[in-house]
Amino acid sequence: MEERNILILFGSQTGTAEDMAERICRAAKRRHFICRMEALDSYSVVNLINEPLVVFVCATTGQGDPPDNMKNFWRFIFRKNLPQNSLCRMDYAVLGLGDSSYPKFNFVAKKLHKRLAQLGANPILPVALGDDQHELGPGAVVDPWLQDLWRKVLYLYPLSPGLHVISDDVMLPAKFSLRFLNDVLAPEDSNRDNIPRTRLPEGETPSELNPFLAPILSNERVTSEDHFQDVRLIEFDITGSGIDFSPGDVVMIQPQNSPQHVQHFCSLLRLDPDRHFVLEAKDSYNEIPVNLPQPCTVRYLVERYLDICCVPRCSFFELLSNFSPDEQEREKLKEFSSAAGQEELYAYCNRPRRTTLEVLQDFPHTTCSIPHDYLLDLIPRIRPRAFSIASSIQAHPNIIQILVAVVQYRTRLHESRRGLCSTWLASLRPQEGETRVPLWVKKGSMTFPCDTDIPLVMVGPGTGVAPFRSAIQERSARSAADNCLFFGCRNKSKDFYFQQEWDGLVKRNILTLFTAFSRDQDDKIYVQHRVKANGPLLWDLISKKHGYFYIAGNAKSMPGEVTDALKSIFCSEGGMSPVEAEEYLVQLEKSRHFQSETWS
Ligand code: 2AM
Repeated sequence: MEERNILILFGSQTGTAEDMAERICRAAKRRHFICRMEALDSYSVVNLINEPLVVFVCATTGQGDPPDNMKNFWRFIFRKNLPQNSLCRMDYAVLGLGDSSYPKFNFVAKKLHKRLAQLGANPILPVALGDDQHELGPGAVVDPWLQDLWRKVLYLYPLSPGLHVISDDVMLPAKFSLRFLNDVLAPEDSNRDNIPRTRLPEGETPSELNPFLAPILSNERVTSEDHFQDVRLIEFDITGSGIDFSPGDVVMIQPQNSPQHVQHFCSLLRLDPDRHFVLEAKDSYNEIPVNLPQPCTVRYLVERYLDICCVPRCSFFELLSNFSPDEQEREKLKEFSSAAGQEELYAYCNRPRRTTLEVLQDFPHTTCSIPHDYLLDLIPRIRPRAFSIASSIQAHPNIIQILVAVVQYRTRLHESRRGLCSTWLASLRPQEGETRVPLWVKKGSMTFPCDTDIPLVMVGPGTGVAPFRSAIQERSARSAADNCLFFGCRNKSKDFYFQQEWDGLVKRNILTLFTAFSRDQDDKIYVQHRVKANGPLLWDLISKKHGYFYIAGNAKSMPGEVTDALKSIFCSEGGMSPVEAEEYLVQLEKSRHFQSETWS
C-alpha cells in the first residue's frame, strides 16, 4: 500500500494556530495519514519540494507581521531567486487566523497562499480567513473550511480499500508516555529542578532553549495605591548572561503557575507532585520537549510546562471527551467540540475566560480518569511573554527593567481573572528564596537611529512609554538632546510614572515632555490632542530635521488617532492634500522614520 503523507506547518504567536494545527493533525491521523506537524521555522524548508501535501496554519500578528516562529521561513519563501516551478509537486491549503479589527486582516495567510501558487504549488482550496472578531469565534469560518478540506483531501488521496475514517469515539495513541520512576532519589537529586543555572556555556547567548535565570533586584509599584491598576517597574540582574540589547528590543519571560494551582491540578488528577518520571516518545516524529529535564518531577511539569491557567481551546474538549467514563460529562464535552456547540463553548469558556483548571474541576469524573500519558497532548505548554525593555544597557549596565501592568479583571465568574505572567512577576520579592526568572532577549520591531543628532518624537501613553524610556536613557547617556515625548495617563497624581525622572531630563534640556492626563478634567485629553496642538514643532522636527516619529501602546483606537493627528499636521503645516499626507506617511514608514508597536 502506498504511504499517504501529510505535513502540517504552523506559524503561531499565541498558540491558537498551533492548536488548530494539532486538531488538523489528529483529523489526518483518523484518515490514516502519516502526519507530521512542525512550526514553520523548525522545518527544513528546502524539503518542501518533496512534500506531496501540506496544510499551512498561519496567524497574522498586530501589524500584519508573521508570528515569530515563521519569520525565517517568511524571509526564505519571498527570496527573488527561488525557481518558478519549484513546488509544482506540492498540493497545499492555507488556513489563516486573524483579527478583522486590525487593518492587515489575515495578511500573512493571503500572501502565503499567493506566493505558493507563484512557486508552482497547487492550491486545493481557497485560503480560509478565520476571524477572532466573529461573534462565534474563528470556528465560524474555519469549521466549514475544514470539512471542505477533508472532502477534497480524501478525493485526491483516497483511503485504501477496506479502510475507514477512524471515528471520534476511538482514542488515538498519546504522543508520549510518562514512565514513572519508583526508586527514591537522593535529596540533592530531587532538588535538581530548582538549581539555578546562572552561567551559560561559553559563547552562548540565552535563548528560549537555554534561558538565563535572572535574580530580581527590585519590584516596585509605580502607580498610587488608590489607582485602579497595579503597574510595576521590575528590575533584573543580568550580570554574566552575555545579554546585550538596544532600545526597542524585548525581553522574553517564561512564567510559572502558582504553587496553589499546581497543588489543585495534582489533586484533581490524583498526581503526586514529588514523583519523578521519564518522558518517552511514542513515535519518531514526536520530539521530547527540550526544556523539560529528564527525569522530571510532576511538580516541574505542572508548574513550568503545562498551561493549566489558559482558556482551553476546542482540541482540549475534543480529546477530553475521549476519557470520560460518565455519560453526562462525555455528552457535554462532545458538544463543546462539535461545530454545533461552538456558541455554547464560547459562552461557557471564552467569554468568561474560564481556565483549564476550572474546566477540569467542572468535569470531575472525566478529570480523574485522564491517562497521564495524555497530559502533553491535552494541555499546551506555557508560552513565554514579551515585554518591551524599559531601560538602557548604556545607562544601566547588567540591568534589564520592564514595566508590567498586572492583569486582573472580572467576568461573571466568582474569582477575578489574573494574567499568569504579570501576576507571577508581581508576586516575586527581591532576594527572597531562590526564585529566578527565566529570560532571554529578542530584537524588537522598533529601531532607533544611532546618529544622536537625529530628533526623536515618541508617543507612548501608559506602559507604551517603556521602549521610549530605554531610548531616552540611552540617548541621554550619549548627550543626545532632541527627544520629544508625549505621555498620556489617567491622573497626574496616580499613574504618571517616572515623573521625577522626566522632570530631571527636562531641566537638563534633554527632553521636551507633553503630558495628557485624560481624567484630571471633565473632557478627555489624549496624546493625539497634544500632538495635534504642536503642529509647527512636529512639522519642523519631522520634515526639516528628518526626525523619527514613534507610537507605542495598547492597540485600540490610539495608534490610528495619533496617526490621523500627524497627517493633519502634514496638511496644515506642510500644505499637503489628504492624499499627499497619506503618501508622505507611507514614505516615512518605508524609510523607518515612522514606526509603531502596539499590543492588546
Ligand atoms: P482613559 O482611560 O481615560 O480613556 C493610558 O492608558 C491612557 O491612554 C489613559 O489616560 C487612557 O485614557 C488613554 N486612552 C484611552 N483610549 C485612548 C485613545 N483612543 N487614544 C489615546 N489615549 C487613549
